Amino acid sequence: MLEKIKETANYLRTRIGGEMPKTAIILGTGLGSLVDHIDNKTVVPYAEIPNFPVSTVQGHSGNLIFGTMGGKPVIAMQGRFHYYEGYDMKTVTFPVRVFKALGVDTLFVSNAAGGMNKEFVVGDVMVITDHINLFPENPLRGKNYEELGPRFPAMTEPYDKKLIALADAVAAEKGLRLMHGVYVGTTGPTFETPAEYEYFRVIGGDAVGMSTVPEVIVARHGDMRVFGISVITDLGGKDITDVPSHEEVQQAALKAQPTVEAIVKEMVVRC
Ligand code: HPA
Repeated sequence: MLEKIKETANYLRTRIGGEMPKTAIILGTGLGSLVDHIDNKTVVPYAEIPNFPVSTVQGHSGNLIFGTMGGKPVIAMQGRFHYYEGYDMKTVTFPVRVFKALGVDTLFVSNAAGGMNKEFVVGDVMVITDHINLFPENPLRGKNYEELGPRFPAMTEPYDKKLIALADAVAAEKGLRLMHGVYVGTTGPTFETPAEYEYFRVIGGDAVGMSTVPEVIVARHGDMRVFGISVITDLGGKDITDVPSHEEVQQAALKAQPTVEAIVKEMVVRC
């Protein structure tokens, strides 16, 4: 694994002109247009990157995009790898390992999620303050490489408190509604039954989705600062009969996109 990470990072260094980014952004479902705010773009399709898998889901294109946001060098992942696609956890989180090898110290992740919190409405944007890992496998399972991080990493502050405070400050300045909550990460690809949404709410979750947790675990293993943001694309619970679909999720994510963009763009420049 160490050799693969090195090989991929070395290749990407040959593709990036200029200053190495310290900030990486993983763009989730329907949030891909954040790339329109990246200037001086170099687009590297996953298919050209050694050891990179290729994304399979509709609505997720597969590119690494290097450039600047508000003058700051960034890498963006347009399309991520989901466990439900059949990739193993090492593959799902491989790009985060490569980011770390390139010198990235701050990771922004975005996703679409179903809301269980009764105060949420579709289209809300939620800062992830913590998560509950319900994936059947931890990405750190197996041999630990001390070069990458400790065997038993603490998860006391998975999402950086200073970045959360910065998000709140930016939202307040811009007059944007920004919720806080706990993200429950599950495998999918089924959406939840009413009883499952209820269960996730009762155990402390505010939103549920099929991504993010593996990448965040690996980023924290490598001691990166992490900021996570969810778009609430549907609501679930005991009395909710709404039937979520991938199309509905994408539509709702598109609607919330300007809010996510405004917050993340400003944060990238100021963090
Ligand atoms: N459940 C799981 N993942 C999701 C949902 C949901 O309701 N909405 C968007 N991603």
